[in-house]
Amino acid sequence: MPPAANRFQTVGGRGSADYIGRKMMKAAYINRTGGPEVIVYGELPTPKPGRQQCLVKVAAVDVNPIDVYVRSGMVPGQLSFPFILGRDLAGTVVETGPDVKRFKPGDRVWGTNQGFGNRPGTFAEFAAVDVQWLYPIPAGVSEEEAVAVSLVGVTAHLGLVQKAKVQAGDVVFVNGGAGGVGSCVVQMAKALGARVIATAGSDEKVAACRPLGADLAINYRTADVAAAVKAFTPTGLNVWWETAREPDFDRAVSLLAARGRMVLMAGREARPPFPVGPFYVKDCSLHGFAMFNATAAEMGAAAADINRWLAEGKLKARIYRVLPLAQAAEAHRLQEESTVRQSGAVSGKIVLKV
Ligand SMILES: NC(=O)c1ccc[n+]([C@@H]2O[C@H](COP(=O)([O-])OP(=O)(O)OC[C@H]3O[C@@H](n4cnc5c(N)ncnc54)[C@H](OP(=O)(O)O)[C@@H]3O)[C@@H](O)[C@H]2O)c1
Repeated sequence: MPPAANRFQTVGGRGSADYIGRKMMKAAYINRTGGPEVIVYGELPTPKPGRQQCLVKVAAVDVNPIDVYVRSGMVPGQLSFPFILGRDLAGTVVETGPDVKRFKPGDRVWGTNQGFGNRPGTFAEFAAVDVQWLYPIPAGVSEEEAVAVSLVGVTAHLGLVQKAKVQAGDVVFVNGGAGGVGSCVVQMAKALGARVIATAGSDEKVAACRPLGADLAINYRTADVAAAVKAFTPTGLNVWWETAREPDFDRAVSLLAARGRMVLMAGREARPPFPVGPFYVKDCSLHGFAMFNATAAEMGAAAADINRWLAEGKLKARIYRVLPLAQAAEAHRLQEESTVRQSGAVSGKIVLKV
């Protein structure tokens, strides 16, 4: 086996000139948990791919609320410092381990579920990623678009398909349809043949829900949501998807149809009251999940549909802002203000170009 640089020189994929001989790379990382100011943009060693890994020259990453929880220490985890931030990536394979068959240098790929367990994060020029967590980027889709539907897209798919088992004709209610996850839920529910109701916290965000596929979009701050839902579907909702971190179960259960399914995936500290009687007498069910628990096979199944819908134009990224990786701290500050402190200023994904 020739040395990595020589092997790669013969292939000449995108980013090759940058990669050859690079011992150090730029990365956004932390040496301790804390506010956004603990994020360091500096140099770390360039990783080498293991036998079943691809070395990816990262083109784009994005910010998710979980990045904020991990960086701040809100979610206690065993971090080994320096800890590279970030769950998602999109870029180009520049080197493959000897056991990798699915990709070759030059292939464009996206992935999620990094920066978790023993996997390093993605906020860096290069990332060595197990091939089981990587998927091809469809032709005509940019790295920025692919990364912006990675974690949120897999989350939406797992909840709709694996948990709620959405069927064509179901009425799916998305509380928070303009957000990162919510905008994917709206589009995917539509692609699965559902009728979709979405809420959002401003008239601009309500307007943004309609081109995503919402049949009815409601401003949850100014309108009577329950009345609008009852007018749209007098028999009730088949699926309630909650993206807010403090669900109102009384309201949700009263609007669910018989055998309605409710999906929960946010609000670790939430301890709201629950209307047991009204819930069980309608044969309703509650489905909680965290995407990071999904197996590689489960995520691969979600990624296959995501790629098909991206290629067909049924799933589009909702990008709020694009910043350089050097501004990772600013990106974290924006996401934290919006999701954790509930300013709602961010509408869609913050993407960082590497
Ligand atoms: N379990 C998992 O696997 C998983 C995966 C991804 C994310 N999450 C969690 O899911 C949550 C959403 O993530 P995200 O990336 O979509 O964040 P995001 O882009 O910040 O979206 C938050 C959404 O919540 C909505 N919202 C806030 N308060 C609301 C209220 N009172 N009523 C209705 N909607 C309300 C917002 O609506 P407006 O902006 O219109 O006000 C927005 O659409 C976060 O807490 C995140 O940690 C969990």
